[in-house]
Amino acid sequence: MLSAHELKVFYGVIQGLKGVDIEINDREIVTLIGSNGAGKTSTLNGIINLVRSTGTVNFLNEDISRSQTHHIVRKGLALVPEGRKIFTNLTIEENLRMGAYNNLANFTHLRDRMFTLFPRLKERRKQMAGTMSGGEQQMLAIARALMSEPVLLMLDEPSLGLAPKVVGELFTIIRQLREENITILLVEQNATAALTIADRAYVLENGKIVLSGAAQEVLANPEVKKMYLGG
Ligand SMILES: Nc1ncnc2c1ncn2[C@@H]1O[C@H](COP(=O)(O)OP(=O)(O)OP(=O)(O)O)[C@@H](O)[C@H]1O
Ligand SMILES: [Mg+2]
Repeated sequence: MLSAHELKVFYGVIQGLKGVDIEINDREIVTLIGSNGAGKTSTLNGIINLVRSTGTVNFLNEDISRSQTHHIVRKGLALVPEGRKIFTNLTIEENLRMGAYNNLANFTHLRDRMFTLFPRLKERRKQMAGTMSGGEQQMLAIARALMSEPVLLMLDEPSLGLAPKVVGELFTIIRQLREENITILLVEQNATAALTIADRAYVLENGKIVLSGAAQEVLANPEVKKMYLGG
């Protein structure tokens, strides 16, 4: 479905990503783990062209490396950004409308689908998004991304700052999305949780992939255990 080759990301003179190769197949959950500053966000932002990058990215048989983000989104790739970035002064429903900006004809239908998937959002649909709990805001960020009807959803640290119980609910939702044939690229610092639901994993260090393989193998890797799984 997606492949990135020699992906590099630049912030002025700083290189955030130093040549990364990633492949994601139809209906997989792939996780990208690594410590702070490893290049996880840069990888996602580089793929969807929110930052200056070089290398090639292929998505659904099209070279999107030079495409504009809105074109990539319309083609079926969506990002739930780090820190959620919801519009706190807009209502839940207005946030969903923003996510459907290229798909407004289907707004009502898609909104109702999100309300089925996330009943809490329905209860609070007229409420300002900033008044919701962290977990609810994360659900809203995911719902907003789903409004563009992606076939591939990239999530940047969705569990950050959430209570364990809420993290459990979030991962249940991610599994459920895959059942609905949405392919997932999941960036997480909660490596144990991510490796438990993923099919395959990549480990990033200093802007490079240092390990990749079946998630169960990565989970059992002694180096990974020591570095990312707390022993
Ligand atoms: N806007 C920016 N300007 C300058 N350097 C940046 C910028 N964003 C990221 N970097 C640098 O690029 C490298 C990769 O950062 P990136 O944000 O991709 O890491 P990350 O793995 O997502 O980290 P975290 O877990 O903290 O979110 C780091 O060295 C970081 O300092
Ligand atoms: Mg990040």
